[in-house]
Amino acid sequence: MMTFIEVDHVKKIYGMKFNRSTAIDNISFVIDSGEFVGIMGPSGAGKTTLLNMMSTIDKPTFGHVRIDNQDITQYNEKKLSEFRRQQLGFIFQDFNLLNSLTIKENIILPLALDKVNVEIIEAKLANIANILNLNNILKHFPNEISIGQQQRVAVARAIITAPKMLFADEPTGSLDSKAATELLKYLTDVNEKQKMTLMMVTHDAFTASYCKRIIFIKDGNIFAEIRRDGSRKEFFQKIIDMQAAIGGGRQ
Ligand SMILES: Nc1ncnc2c1ncn2[C@@H]1O[C@H](COP(=O)(O)OP(=O)(O)O)[C@@H](O)[C@H]1O
Ligand SMILES: [Mg+2]
Repeated sequence: MMTFIEVDHVKKIYGMKFNRSTAIDNISFVIDSGEFVGIMGPSGAGKTTLLNMMSTIDKPTFGHVRIDNQDITQYNEKKLSEFRRQQLGFIFQDFNLLNSLTIKENIILPLALDKVNVEIIEAKLANIANILNLNNILKHFPNEISIGQQQRVAVARAIITAPKMLFADEPTGSLDSKAATELLKYLTDVNEKQKMTLMMVTHDAFTASYCKRIIFIKDGNIFAEIRRDGSRKEFFQKIIDMQAAIGGGRQ
């Protein structure tokens, strides 16, 4: 397997002087192309901070993040935003849909920003709207559709550019269990069929049980790592056991 993303002795300190706090102490690991990795850990462990540094949204205080052998921590803002748009996809907990745009406009936004040809955009939209069952809501606005539909729109927008890697921060956080299961099945599909590399932050053991490997962090360091080698149910139990071992978060 080829390394896709490398986190190399990353440290993140927030604040200055007397209110400095170390969110990520010293973390190193790699994710291979095509993996589906979960990041778990108690509240305040540094999960979101880590995801943001890996997905170019934030920069480490020390250390390096390499994606496809390119050191993104050295990129300037312009190069970063281009790289982010062309190579990476994001699903946020609250979906971040733009309320003044229709569902169609929301989904095609990343392609429109990249000035992709209109016919190509329409073809990609048609394909993704079919897969995610969005055809009858394309003309609606985000506040006119259900949470489950909004979540599918967020997935469509994240994958319409065919990113090499998809990041998701607590993607099932606001979903009921039926909508959550559906989302996790879509994610498993894009991982297995389109070979998209996935990294998902979650505090929920059921959600995490869809991953193939989970890295547990606590107080800004790696606490443990487990792999799924049997059924999802067995993996779920392993996750619960590890959550019990890791205990609570920072005081
Ligand atoms: N922008 C920020 N400024 C200062 N401290 C922050 C900031 N973001 C997060 N932190 C602190 O860093 C630590 C890790 O936070 P975070 O990455 O959000 O954890 P998690 O996602 O695991 O709950 C926490 O102690 C949090 O209070
Ligand atoms: Mg978080």
